[in-house]
Amino acid sequence: MKTIFITGTSSGLGKASARYFAEQGWNVAATMRTPEKETELTQYKNIQLFKLDVTNLQQVKEATAGAIAAFGKIDVVLNNAGMGTYGPLELAKEADIDWQFAVNARGPINIIRAFLPHFREMGGGMFINVSSFMGITTAVPLGSLYNMSKFALEGLTEGLYYELKPLNIDLRLIEQGGYTGNNFRENIRWNQHEEITVYNEQLDKLKNLMSNAEAHITETIDDVVAVIADLATRKSNKFRTVIGEVGNNLMNMRSSMPIEDYLEKMTTVFG
Ligand SMILES: NC(=O)c1ccc[n+]([C@@H]2O[C@H](COP(=O)([O-])OP(=O)(O)OC[C@H]3O[C@@H](n4cnc5c(N)ncnc54)[C@H](OP(=O)(O)O)[C@@H]3O)[C@@H](O)[C@H]2O)c1
Repeated sequence: MKTIFITGTSSGLGKASARYFAEQGWNVAATMRTPEKETELTQYKNIQLFKLDVTNLQQVKEATAGAIAAFGKIDVVLNNAGMGTYGPLELAKEADIDWQFAVNARGPINIIRAFLPHFREMGGGMFINVSSFMGITTAVPLGSLYNMSKFALEGLTEGLYYELKPLNIDLRLIEQGGYTGNNFRENIRWNQHEEITVYNEQLDKLKNLMSNAEAHITETIDDVVAVIADLATRKSNKFRTVIGEVGNNLMNMRSSMPIEDYLEKMTTVFG
């Protein structure tokens, strides 16, 4: 029986993935910041919950060791936990800047480092890192901190490819662009300031774009889980899977023109 370790299973993609893999007969180490609140995943015999804030090194140590002790072997690690800080960089709170990097980039670093001894001992393993098309291209103003965190995750994953390949440890990236009915957007930390209004027009446009995101995003959460399942079961060996029309269109546009043209075009599209 295979085992997957997943971060951020309290909601969204993490929870849907935990449910899917459990229903496929996998063991699931479902981690979350507040397992005491969970009522759904506790119904599955083959899911075990572990308390884990990916930025807390003590919890990383305890959750990864606990999962290895409980299941004996972990085959796949899904680095899913993530959050977004949006708004003008100038107006961001120091703590939110650090938190953005801590959760989306340092978090996966913590988890990967904690699992490497186990994967070495087992002779291999797989990390699937949940990124975004905002990790491989820019698309809107006021997303620079989120871009930074996911670009960092992309660089980390690509860079690690070389050093882990000889150890039979695989790395995969998924570039998801959201799915219908997700609550990621509701959890965004917005940077705003009552007295500095120069960014307000951009802020209004971005908030409007986000509240209408469902008009452009047609993928369901099951479509995203299906990509993760194909990677975890090695049906797909793609290093990077871009999910959805929006992400794929942006990628095609970005690769088809010089960066200066792309930046100009996106400014116009947004404006
Ligand atoms: N939905 C989108 O529009 C979208 C688009 C592109 C990429 N993504 C990426 O997809 C991944 C999953 O997001 P989602 O769509 O499923 O959104 P979501 O429903 O908001 O899920 C985010 C999960 O991450 C967890 N989390 C946040 N901070 C954490 C921390 N410090 N330690 C551990 N867990 C933490 C949350 O737990 P709590 O309940 O404790 O906060 C929650 O379980 C994220 O990496 C996100 O960046 C999402």
